[in-house]
Amino acid sequence: MSSGIISAAYIAASILFILSLGGLSNQESAQRGNLFGIAGMALAIGATLIGGTPVSYALVIALMAVGGAVGGFVAARVEMTAMPQLVAMLHSFVGLAAVLVGFASYLDPAGHFVGAEKTIHDVEIFLGILIGAITLTGSVAAFGKLQGILTSRPVLIPGRHLLNLAVAAACAWLGYCFVGADSINGGIWPLLAMTILALIFGIHMVLAIGGADMPVVISMLNSYSGWAAAATGFMLANDLLIVTGALVGSSGAILSYIMCRAMNRRFISVILGGFGTPEANSGTIETGGETAAVSASETAELLTSAKTVVIVPGYGMAVAHAQHPVSELVDALKTRGVTARFAIHPVAGRMPGHMNVLLAEAKVPYDSVLEMDEINGDFPTTDVVLVIGANDIVNPAAQEVPDSPIAGMPVLEVWKAATTIVLKRSMATGYAGVDNPLFYRENTRMLFGDAKQSISEVLSTL
Ligand code: TAP
Repeated sequence: MSSGIISAAYIAASILFILSLGGLSNQESAQRGNLFGIAGMALAIGATLIGGTPVSYALVIALMAVGGAVGGFVAARVEMTAMPQLVAMLHSFVGLAAVLVGFASYLDPAGHFVGAEKTIHDVEIFLGILIGAITLTGSVAAFGKLQGILTSRPVLIPGRHLLNLAVAAACAWLGYCFVGADSINGGIWPLLAMTILALIFGIHMVLAIGGADMPVVISMLNSYSGWAAAATGFMLANDLLIVTGALVGSSGAILSYIMCRAMNRRFISVILGGFGTPEANSGTIETGGETAAVSASETAELLTSAKTVVIVPGYGMAVAHAQHPVSELVDALKTRGVTARFAIHPVAGRMPGHMNVLLAEAKVPYDSVLEMDEINGDFPTTDVVLVIGANDIVNPAAQEVPDSPIAGMPVLEVWKAATTIVLKRSMATGYAGVDNPLFYRENTRMLFGDAKQSISEVLSTL
């Protein structure tokens, strides 16, 4: 097939990817966005297969069939609560691919250049492997933290900033040696040494970040995986991979910025591995006193006698699969003339848009779902707030305890409502591991139990 047709297919695929990103920015158009993405990827793979010259088509197709089957099987079975872990693993694969392509491209005898072309190619390889290795181990560490295999608290090695600085300086020097080397034997050692340092740095960077700052890490690794793909595109001289990687890299960077703003964190502090993170044991919060438990029937009474109700969903709603009964509860309240709306914190759950996806699945109308900035001012005039499996995002310690690990993070000010009912199973902390003084407030009631079961009981009383 002529290179002109391949280029046209690549341009069409790039346009489909841009339309896909545009569609994904809004819930109503998200499905269409996904379809554009699928069509773009099918076109991109098809054009690459036809335009490229693989050693064996049979081998490529067999490998794609195996990879596609494994991916399809895992994606079909994954629980909504485990989606963030799946995304982290997929990011690590992009990092691994960049590392492998980088080494293959360096060792490939057919890909040897001279003069300025050699320098440019070496720089592409070095940067591609560097970003790929950081993405690889950073994503594996993020997977461990999200899965609960690794602690969600920041692991702060003494002198970690100096260590990071030393790694950066060592990588710069290794890069100089690598680009200056005039043979593969001379260049492979600095390349291997940098890869090992980058692998260690990826783990260290993510481990140093506290649970509450994980949303920034996830979007940042998403961005890194895009830049790793773009670097791979440069190494393989594939324009579409460069464009696609740059799209993922820049949209991930924008998402990281949005997450930082939502959490009142400085981007540079977070990416430097918890710069400014309070030491692990600081932020002890004075909690104590009595909690007031409430029953499902009392909750139903409070809700039906209210004029305005705000529901705050959190990670526990996803764990309990409570979105469908919650949606039914809202319908039941609305038919009784109660104004019921949802308040969504930007980092509720474990991935960007987690709560919006669950509520959309339960067919909650989009106009009853409000962002934190739109609804935070309404709590003082709200009769009842139902906090369903949320904890960190409604923790007043973020405003009241200056040395708390979540200090400065904007939270939903649910304690300002006349009554706040918290649905959870125990007095356990949330993901950031911070105690929550909300539970001991005079106007707070605790409805203990699994959220789905509690809401179903409230519904049956209604
Ligand atoms: P969390 O602070 O993690 O609190 C969830 C609460 O749900 C827990 O306290 C738990 O208490 C309760 N829960 C769990 N299962 C339940 C069930 N079956 N029924 C009832 N309650 C249940 O969640 P959040 O308030 O949504 O805050 C999110 C946290 O995750 C933030 O710290 C955020 O920074 C972090 N994070 C977010 C993201 C993104 S991008 N959204 C990514 C990574 C990390 P019990 O065990 O007592 O029931």
